[in-house]
Amino acid sequence: MKLVSSIAALRAELSANTNVGFVPTMGFLHEGHLTLARRSVSENDVTVMSIFVNPLQFAPSEDLSSYPRDIERDTALAETAGVDFLFVPSVAEMSPMETVEVGRIGQICEGEYRPGHFTGVATVCARLFEIVGPCRAYFGMKDAQQLAVVRKMVRETRLPPPLEVIGCPTVREADGLAMSSRNVYLDPQQRQLASAIPKALFAAAELTGPDAEARRAFVVAELDAAKGVTLQYVDIVDPETFESLQYVKGRAIVVLAAFVGNTRLIDNVEVGTDVGTGQPA
Ligand code: PAJ
Repeated sequence: MKLVSSIAALRAELSANTNVGFVPTMGFLHEGHLTLARRSVSENDVTVMSIFVNPLQFAPSEDLSSYPRDIERDTALAETAGVDFLFVPSVAEMSPMETVEVGRIGQICEGEYRPGHFTGVATVCARLFEIVGPCRAYFGMKDAQQLAVVRKMVRETRLPPPLEVIGCPTVREADGLAMSSRNVYLDPQQRQLASAIPKALFAAAELTGPDAEARRAFVVAELDAAKGVTLQYVDIVDPETFESLQYVKGRAIVVLAAFVGNTRLIDNVEVGTDVGTGQPA
């Protein structure tokens, strides 16, 4: 594996006409990231993983300065997963970035609580796609709205074709908690409490009937009963537009954000999926 920090060096490495797989991350790698990387390795000739903690997607009140980082550990893990090029640019190297607006999907649901977040995500992804060039790009369904935003952006903007966006299932801990770099913020007691989140989501996803409100109310009640977890929002949404649904007819996902202590966690589960074991769907 080669560690690359300049755009020119990465472009030179990718100039040969091979199938390129691309896994963008903010580092502090865990099994979720590594699963994306291994899938890319199995489906492409060459895999690029990027590690860039993107300032544009953090609000001033958020955890940009404390976001966990460990480049040595990440380098070893990426290499084990079979990554060919680990692209770790500086903020200066990535600048300037042309702002990419994503419209309504960036303002609703998660976007309502994190104004500007999805503009920051779309902007950095557009820049990364431009740098990497034609590729298959792998994203986790853990961040379902991000995946929908990126898909929309790729559809609507003139990015270098062919660019294929591939969504990969959420990787979970044994108790169901979705893996996240931010889980490291949880102390042992909070870590235990956090398992109430997937538990409530899985149960809500398995409820029968078309009534979205019943599922919403169920999650509110479950997490209310789970002391130590403070629900910020829960909604039943269309997985493409993230518009709130009143009735579940076709595909739908239950999405939520909740605080455990000061740590904000997000998760989602597709309605009707068989996730009763707590294992990835
Ligand atoms: P980051 O949170 O590091 O996540 C990088 C990729 O890993 C994203 O596609 C995310 O959905 C995926 N991922 C994270 N946890 C996962 C899990 N438990 N199971 C499966 N996939 C998981 O998401 C970002 O970084 C950034 O917003 C980024 C896209 C890199 C743009 O800055």
